[in-house]
Amino acid sequence: MVCTMCRALLLLGLFLILTPLVCGYTDGGFSVELIHRDSPRSPFHDPSLTPHGRVLAAVQRSYAGSGSPDPDGAVSEVISGTFQLFMYVNVGTPRTRMLALVDTGSDLVWLRCTNGSASPAPPPPAAAAAAGGTSSVFDLSSSSTYGLVGCQSDSCHSVHGTSCDATSLCQYSYSYVGGSSSSGLVSTETFTFDDAPGGPQLQVPRVNFGCATTANFPGYGIVGLSDGKSSLINQMSAATSLGRRFSYCLAPYLSDASSALNFGSRATVTEPGAVTTPMEASYTVEIVAVRVGNSIIKLPNSKRSPVIVDSGSMLTSLDGELLDPIVEALARSIKLPRKQSPNPELFSVCYQADGMKALEKVFPDVTLELGGGALVKLKAENVFMDLLLRTVCLAIVPVKYEGSVPTIGSVMQHNMHVGYDLDKRTITFAPADCATSFPSPPASVV
Ligand SMILES: *[C@@H]1O[C@H](CO)[C@@H](O)[C@H](O)[C@H]1NC(C)=O
Repeated sequence: MVCTMCRALLLLGLFLILTPLVCGYTDGGFSVELIHRDSPRSPFHDPSLTPHGRVLAAVQRSYAGSGSPDPDGAVSEVISGTFQLFMYVNVGTPRTRMLALVDTGSDLVWLRCTNGSASPAPPPPAAAAAAGGTSSVFDLSSSSTYGLVGCQSDSCHSVHGTSCDATSLCQYSYSYVGGSSSSGLVSTETFTFDDAPGGPQLQVPRVNFGCATTANFPGYGIVGLSDGKSSLINQMSAATSLGRRFSYCLAPYLSDASSALNFGSRATVTEPGAVTTPMEASYTVEIVAVRVGNSIIKLPNSKRSPVIVDSGSMLTSLDGELLDPIVEALARSIKLPRKQSPNPELFSVCYQADGMKALEKVFPDVTLELGGGALVKLKAENVFMDLLLRTVCLAIVPVKYEGSVPTIGSVMQHNMHVGYDLDKRTITFAPADCATSFPSPPASVV
């Protein structure tokens, strides 16, 4: 009797465990690994730096490239922050595996391309060699599914700033804030995405992408995830039943764990404590107030405070009018000795604390109140960074330039499941343990 029941329960348990794996992406959604630039799984990993040194270098990189103004209107796209998160894409038939930067701030998908020996490959990025099993360039002459796009077609018009070349093919040329650029022919290819280990594959035929024959960029390509027409999320949803939604769960920067980027039903944020706020164009939400302990901090005269939710910038940037009273309120609650900043230009406020756990003990209740009444509770690890041994610094900076849009950076989103729904026009946040959000790959892959 008992045993029969045991067996039934066991079978039921097995079924529940296996269901997401065998159902495939059509109803189960799928996830890809998001690899941080500095993680040991990235070809850009610098083993000569300590973990704290890598964090500091990453922040300095992130801040140097972000938010600069567009003086002459020539820059067509803003690459958000610089160079933080990567995913693998498999392009062509047979497939070529490449590591591309994930950017929620840009729309185009592009990869470094070469045409057999007929055309020279663009110079490889100086930073690193491609990791084992991956390629630094896609050779279009070796793929049976490669296609070109005419410059009068809708596919060509859906990509920002395209033109006709001498043979009426669709030419693109992108320049990014910070001086990076990419140009070549808009083309079509089959893209294959691997789900988490053991899961299914998702094949998307005829994805429009930029085949870059010229690229001044320290990487192999970019996957644009903005709400623009040619972004991967819009092209994927047109070709599958996944819908126009994605989510990510970012593991803390000092952890070597990979993060997850989810599509389809897995991008629905259902964890307890989830709150939802309306989203405007370019993933912008509104900060209504910031609560620190008993203080409720708002902009004067009920001024609106739009912020871009960004995964590419590490630090959060806010209007000084909002930031100054936040710093004061934090200083009233946090009774720890001040420490000298490792970089006073970026970090104005540092305390002596034995890591994040010690800071958490004296950290007041901090809540972001977003539009629609969404209350996002922040932990110490979302507001401060563990930068040196025994030194934690505020990870919020004043907006760098007059008129540039404030940003909620990746640190503030650590250990949250953040879901973007482009149809409902919402962003949802829920607390989560992101270091376990993506199953670790087998050790041999590392
Ligand atoms: C690639 O090279 C072949 C052989 O030279 C040529 O016929 C073809 O048009 C080229 N394709 C592109 C997209 O440049």
